[in-house]
Amino acid sequence: MALLETRQLLKHFGGIMAVNDISLTIGEGEIVGMIGPNGSGKSTFVNLLTGLYTPDKGQTLFRGQDITGMQTHRITSIGISRTFQNLRVFQNVSVLTNILIGRHCQIDNPLWKIFLRPLAARKTEKEGREKAINFLKLANLADRMDEMAKNLPYGEQRLLEICRALASEPALLLLDEPCAGMNPVEMDTLAEFVRKIKAAGTTVFIIEHNMRFIMSVAERIIVLNMGKKFMEGNPKEIQADSGVQRIYLGEEEENPC
Ligand SMILES: Nc1ncnc2c1ncn2[C@@H]1O[C@H](COP(=O)(O)OP(=O)(O)OP(=O)(O)O)[C@@H](O)[C@H]1O
Ligand SMILES: [Mg+2]
Repeated sequence: MALLETRQLLKHFGGIMAVNDISLTIGEGEIVGMIGPNGSGKSTFVNLLTGLYTPDKGQTLFRGQDITGMQTHRITSIGISRTFQNLRVFQNVSVLTNILIGRHCQIDNPLWKIFLRPLAARKTEKEGREKAINFLKLANLADRMDEMAKNLPYGEQRLLEICRALASEPALLLLDEPCAGMNPVEMDTLAEFVRKIKAAGTTVFIIEHNMRFIMSVAERIIVLNMGKKFMEGNPKEIQADSGVQRIYLGEEEENPC
């Protein structure tokens, strides 16, 4: 059974068919990429998976369970986490605190436990802190954990955002254009980070415009065009396809990644 499956997902905004009949699967342990020109429906697709939008038609199944229309926080709690296309890091708190905030929805420390079982509550917090530091190590950010987030370069803030998404210990991590604003060194760190995330048992789905990055990291790539699935294949097949080159041609001149 696929970890995640969409069946004929469809979402329109008035006359704009943002996501049009998209069926796909993401297998456990895969790194799957999604590419497509601006406005082809990639972010809308992720917003449908995470409950931010409700589809007009179609279904999403996670581990075989129908999660279509489920609320965002429930989707997070069953094991799907994400980052957004626009950076969402708490600027005025430390790097470590950013992750602990992300973990908060996972740590179920009710008030009675804090008062009546302070040792147990403290143990959970200590474990949370250790896990957070481990995520920072994977992203090469551990030595910056006490720094205010706003003092990190933009690219490192994006890595921090991924650490925060990992804090809920998802089975499936969805990244919407994680390379945006990164320099080549940060991109290489990110590629390494994504491989480590996979090795640690999390499945990764990445939307990305940067071809060098996505081709190096994804095992399978889905191409969207005008809301529809245009092609699916391994990086070599996608790179060699003249149709894919055609739909990207206009973009690449503006967006030479
Ligand atoms: N909330 C919304 N209301 C109205 N139209 C929307 C909304 N969200 C997306 N759209 C439209 O849906 C289409 C798909 O947008 P989407 O943001 O999913 O594309 P994308 O592939 O993520 O593009 P980009 O690469 O620029 O991020 C676009 O035409 C966009 O203008
Ligand atoms: Mg987008």
